[in-house]
Amino acid sequence: MSLESFLSTLDELEQEALAAFDAASDAGALEESRVRFLGAKKGALKDVQKQMGGIDPSDRKAAGMRLNEFKSKVQAAFETSQSILGGGGEAGIDPSFDATLPGIQPNIGHIHPITQTINHLMEIMGRMGFEAAEGPEVEDPWHNFVALNIPEDHPARDPLDNFYLATASATSDRAIEGEQLLRSQTSTVQIRVMERRQPPIRVISLGRVYRPDDPDATHFPMFHQMEGLYVDEHVTMANLKTVLRVFATNYLGGDVQIRFRPSFFPFTEPSVEVDFLWNDQWIEFGGAGMVDPAVFEAVGYDPETVSGFAFGLGVERLCMRRHGITDIRDLYSGDLRFLRQF
Ligand code: DAH
Repeated sequence: MSLESFLSTLDELEQEALAAFDAASDAGALEESRVRFLGAKKGALKDVQKQMGGIDPSDRKAAGMRLNEFKSKVQAAFETSQSILGGGGEAGIDPSFDATLPGIQPNIGHIHPITQTINHLMEIMGRMGFEAAEGPEVEDPWHNFVALNIPEDHPARDPLDNFYLATASATSDRAIEGEQLLRSQTSTVQIRVMERRQPPIRVISLGRVYRPDDPDATHFPMFHQMEGLYVDEHVTMANLKTVLRVFATNYLGGDVQIRFRPSFFPFTEPSVEVDFLWNDQWIEFGGAGMVDPAVFEAVGYDPETVSGFAFGLGVERLCMRRHGITDIRDLYSGDLRFLRQF
């Protein structure tokens, strides 16, 4: 048999098969047509396969390719008819299915209000040239206390005010050396940045801190801080005040007034509490000051040549004021009715 007549036989057969599947009005008729064209024992496909043997060996490849194409086309046409007739079990289309009805809206979630706030704060500070820095949440006493000029006997190191971790870990494959704790402040990142870089430095660090406080409307054992650090030559408190005022104006809107109240932090000298005037009320948002010379010495900087300021603001407090949230616990309740509002 010549290749030409083999191919035309297949063409004809294909047309016939597609027409027969199309015309089948019920599952029984369709099955009959399937046996006729695709049947494994007798059908037309079997006959055609036999004819392959009579084809010139140099034409067999082309004939085989066409035969495969025939098989998959006819099989696909059969399956389509089968699903239209609903005879295909699982594959059949449920006659009550209406593709024009609205679908079920997938719940894709959205960004948590605190993460939104963090992104917003990074954007504002970024515009003033502050880059983001990070540090670990599990810290050692050097970064959380000692380098920050908080001595051994300082009350801030009290085990009742910190989450110290057990020193031996059964699950870790590496030995933990010395005391570790969940950091109680992001000031740790000041040290981490200065240890590996030289001035000028202009960084912020946004992250979680931990303190064993009982939860109430304004306290939660885990919360977030925005730490800022600016180190260069001739940095003054006027720079600090300007940066914080520009920040507050951008974040809270309007020309926010700012107030410094004298205070004390071991790592700044002088130290201040920072208040913003918000809705005719002075509200404390955090602490700040000029970096203490002892801190510069701890990281190997010369306090005679560099100066700097630092600040630490409460992220939840900023977020809550801006959005009128009155209870910090709402942020961490996981209650979607609350979270979906932001
Ligand atoms: N680390 C302080 C706290 O958690 C906040 C703070 C105060 C940060 C003064 C600073 C600073 O950088 O200069 O209460």
